[in-house]
This record gives sequence, C-alpha cells and structure tokens, in this order.
Amino acid sequence: MMREFESKDGVMMIGGKSAVEIAEEFGTPVYVIDEARVRENYRNIYGAFSRFMDTKIHYACKANTNLALLRILEQEGSGIDAVSIGEVKTCLKAGFTPDRIMYTGVNVSNQELKEVADLGVMINLDSVSEMERLAEIAPQHEISFRITPGVGSGHSAKVITGSKGAKFGIPLDEVINTYARAKDLGFKIKGIHAHIGSGGQVVEPFMDMMEVLINLVNEIKELGIDLDFIDMGGGIGVPYRPQEEEMDVGELAMNLTDMIQEETDIKTIILEPGRYIVCDAVVLLTGVNDVKDAGIKKYVGCDAGFNTLIRPAMYDSYHHVALANKFGKACTQKYDVVGPICESGDYLAHDRVLPEPVEGDIVAVYNAGAYGFSMSSNYNSRPLCREVLVNDGKAELVREAETVEEMWRHQIIPERLA
Ligand code: LLP
Repeated sequence: MMREFESKDGVMMIGGKSAVEIAEEFGTPVYVIDEARVRENYRNIYGAFSRFMDTKIHYACKANTNLALLRILEQEGSGIDAVSIGEVKTCLKAGFTPDRIMYTGVNVSNQELKEVADLGVMINLDSVSEMERLAEIAPQHEISFRITPGVGSGHSAKVITGSKGAKFGIPLDEVINTYARAKDLGFKIKGIHAHIGSGGQVVEPFMDMMEVLINLVNEIKELGIDLDFIDMGGGIGVPYRPQEEEMDVGELAMNLTDMIQEETDIKTIILEPGRYIVCDAVVLLTGVNDVKDAGIKKYVGCDAGFNTLIRPAMYDSYHHVALANKFGKACTQKYDVVGPICESGDYLAHDRVLPEPVEGDIVAVYNAGAYGFSMSSNYNSRPLCREVLVNDGKAELVREAETVEEMWRHQIIPERLA
C-alpha cells in the first residue's frame, strides 16, 4: 500500500515535523527527506535478501544524489550503483570508498573510463567496444558485464531496458564470446549483471531474467571463469496510488536466491534499488500561488512544475497529492494541479478531488524521492529548489535554493557583444 502520513490538527506530519512549519520556515518548493524512512527502506530490502544469502545493496544513486541522503546510506552500509563520473565523484565525496562503488555506464568516453579506473572503481561493461577500449586503458581492471536478458519490465516504455535489441548490455548471443575475450585480455572478471527496467510491480520478469543469468553463469564456468556475484539490477517498483498493492520483496528475495543457490556456485547477490529506497521517503511541498476556475476545469496553480518534478509530464506518472494544511479534510471538487512553466504539458496531477484550495495552501506531492530532484531543471530560468532533511521532529536545510545569478555562472558573453 502507498505510504500514509500522520495528521496532527489537520496538518500533514513528515518525520515528526509539521509540513506547514517546514514550508513556512524554508519556503517552497522544497523537497523534504524523511531520514527514518530512508533507513527503514534500506533495512527492509537488505534484510529481505540477506536472510537467504550474502547480499550487497548498491543504491542506484541516479534516483537521488543529495549528499546528506548519501551519508545516511553510507552509514547504513550500502554500496553504490553509479552511471557517470559525476555520480562516482559525488559518492566519494559522501564518504563511500571506491570498493563500495560499481560503475555501469552506457556509451561512455575513454576519458571517463580512465578516470573511473584510476579511482579504483569496478566497471560493469556495457558493450564489446567498451571492453576493447578499457583493455587499452586498464587491462587488469576488475570488471563484470551487463547483458541484455531479453526480458523487460517497467512503469513506462521509456524505462524498460532489458528487452531484446535494447540499447543496453551485451546481446545474449555474444555473451559467451565476450567473457572468453575478456579472459584473454587479462581482466579480473567478477560477475554478471542485468537490469530489466524500472518500476516493475511483478515478480515474474525478475525470475525470467534470473533464469537467463543462471544459464550464462554455468556456461561461463565452462570457460574456466568462476564468477563471484550475480547482479540483478534495480527496478523494484513501489505503490504510487493509495490502494495499490506493493510487490512482495520477501517472496522476490526467496525465489531469486533459491534459484541461485540451487543452480550455481555463486555466493553473492547484488541488487541496485534506487526507487525502493528513496521514493516514499521524500515529499515535495509546493505552495499554491493561484486558483483558477476555467469553466470546464479548475486549476490549482503551484510554485513547482515540471522544472521541479518532471515525472508526470515525462512519463504520465501518477503522483498522489494532498493539501498539507487541510490534511484529511473533506474533498469537494476535482482539480488539475499545475505549475509555473509556460507549457500546457506542465502538470503535477490531473483530475484530483481535493478540499477547496485557496492561495497560500501547501500541496504535498507524494513519492517524490526517486527521480524527483535529480531530474529537475532550470527550464524557464527557474532556479533549482531547496532540500530539507527531517528526523525526530527536526528539520535541517541540506540544499540551499539556487539563485538566478548562479544560473548565469557558466555563460560567456563575447567581448564584441558586451
Ligand atoms: N540499475 C540500473 C542499471 C539502472 O539503469 C537503474 C535505473 C537502476 C539500477 C535503478 O532502478 P530503480 O530501482 O530505481 O527502478 N527516471 C525514471 C527511472 C529511470 C531508471 C533508470 N535506470 C523514472 O522517473 O521513473
């Protein structure tokens, strides 16, 4: 079920702190990170798998790279799935040692490969080209391969990654030759990886992917290569709608680890959850600037639009919304919750029944922790917003709002135009 929040005197509470107070103290829009929930989600997913076999969680930090959040996960003992040198360096800055980071790039440059290899971070190779290029740069490096399992799953066609013919990974019929070649090249070959897609809500595609990986592990063994780990990628979905069922991660863990232990000698399973760990641990609070009755539609005009949270506009994703200062009040009519961006595609929520909104109300957008801030932009020259961490009823600013001046800092006006 979607996460519910406590209500106190008609006000939404996040991490023991009033959402209205947070909005007043820090301003809106603001992403509010609930520390306790991050820790709980991490412990849930780690616990589900580690009951059965040696487990490493590599948090997919593309979901949210806030440094304070990364510190929390570093303390919890998490590892990292990083997709770029920027993510690698951000996680090093947050205190992760290189051996806890795995780099899975796609279509990356030699320059970037060299930087990652020089930092001592394991590289999960996405193509034969990348392998040949890395062999020139760091021939003894620790590697694994991302393979294309031919199985895809996800909340939108835009985030399915594992289907046959996908942009990602080594095509199935080339996997064995590629491992043989990697052995000849002298790499330290550690494992095998696949990722089916993001936001899947059913167990079966993960099992289908695991079957593919297991068969490959056993074929690769015949080449004289004993792998240490299977990395099942990320993609575990979470409920975004009030009554939506959640995936049973206990069942998922039991089924997958059973298959591995019965059919292979693999000792370690790695998983790369992004959304599962951070999604429901963050609420976006956005202030109501404007309320409009357009006849056939009513609008709640907020200070956050798709510059702040792009998922509804980009994937038609559903995010639950509530009025944080009229929490639990009776709902009266349907509204579209929209933002300050000059495009009609700029919306946060369509056709939601809400208590009657007025200017100054605070809209809470649920499940904003995964791919919320990390996909936000400066479109319409709006500065990136603040982030606040709450814990035990206390709120701390963990990212200041960007300023308009800061948005100009990399631009150059040629002298002749000055
Ligand atoms: N591992 C790999 C190799 C991935 O490509 C991804 C996500 C993950 C792990 C983490 O997946 P998660 O557990 O978070 O589902 N922007 C989209 C999601 C894109 C996901 C890309 N890859 C969204 O807002 O839904």
